[in-house]
Amino acid sequence: MPFTNRHCLVTGGTGALGSEVVRDLLGHGAEVHVTWREARELDRIDFKDHVTLHEVDLGDEASVAAVYAKAGPIYASIHVAGGFAMGPIQDVTQSDFESMMRLNAGTCFLCCREAVKAMRAAGRSAEDGGRIVNVIARPAMEPTGGMLAYSTSKAAVASLTQCLAKEVLDDGILVNAVAPSIMDTPANRAAMPDADFDAWPKVEEVARTMVWLASPANALTTGTLVPVYGRA
Ligand SMILES: NC(=O)c1ccc[n+]([C@@H]2O[C@H](COP(=O)([O-])OP(=O)(O)OC[C@H]3O[C@@H](n4cnc5c(N)ncnc54)[C@H](OP(=O)(O)O)[C@@H]3O)[C@@H](O)[C@H]2O)c1
Repeated sequence: MPFTNRHCLVTGGTGALGSEVVRDLLGHGAEVHVTWREARELDRIDFKDHVTLHEVDLGDEASVAAVYAKAGPIYASIHVAGGFAMGPIQDVTQSDFESMMRLNAGTCFLCCREAVKAMRAAGRSAEDGGRIVNVIARPAMEPTGGMLAYSTSKAAVASLTQCLAKEVLDDGILVNAVAPSIMDTPANRAAMPDADFDAWPKVEEVARTMVWLASPANALTTGTLVPVYGRA
């Protein structure tokens, strides 16, 4: 299987999308490391006994470095952790804006940095140095109003992805991001009960694209922002 003997780290791996990424990786034979923060999230997942769990607040620089040091020579680092907020500009405080930037861009930056260090330390070939997959969102690709702190923070992740892809090209580390539209999750169903759920991309489908980008089967694709919108 493509991931046999390969270690992969998934941030936010207890959440709606992250848990599907973990299941898909396990199905492909990976050794999976999962970060978690809220104990109640652990009750929700069915793969606790098949992964290495790391409790961490991904906003804390030293803690993130410690997790990657413990995880060791990872092949793929998949950064799903993030969050959403909306509101018109007049209601967005400086603190709201900074929180979104820290949550989406800040955590992704720290994980990308530690992942690159771990992949370089693993001393793989310049053809197959490792894989990083980030998660942005449709509004970072197709600007929209009403959620500018969120969209801007995801646009920062898009830029981070493309700049890092150039920076680590000679290390053989391929860096990409997926851009989901509104996904079919329990939280979105509860928030938008009248929406057409069938049109929303399923988390399993988005996970499949991410796992391909994170796999050795992806030999060439780097610096891309992949729309995963489905029919939405
Ligand atoms: N849902 C959508 O429709 C949608 C659309 C486009 C993009 N996205 C993006 O896709 C990703 C996953 O979304 P989702 O719907 O699966 O969200 P989710 O279920 O809320 O999962 C997010 C995960 O991130 C973790 N996390 C957040 N901040 C953290 C921190 N500081 N330290 C450690 N863990 C942290 C959460 O842990 P705790 O629960 O323990 O805090 C949770 O496991 C996010 O980046 C989101 O912005 C989602």
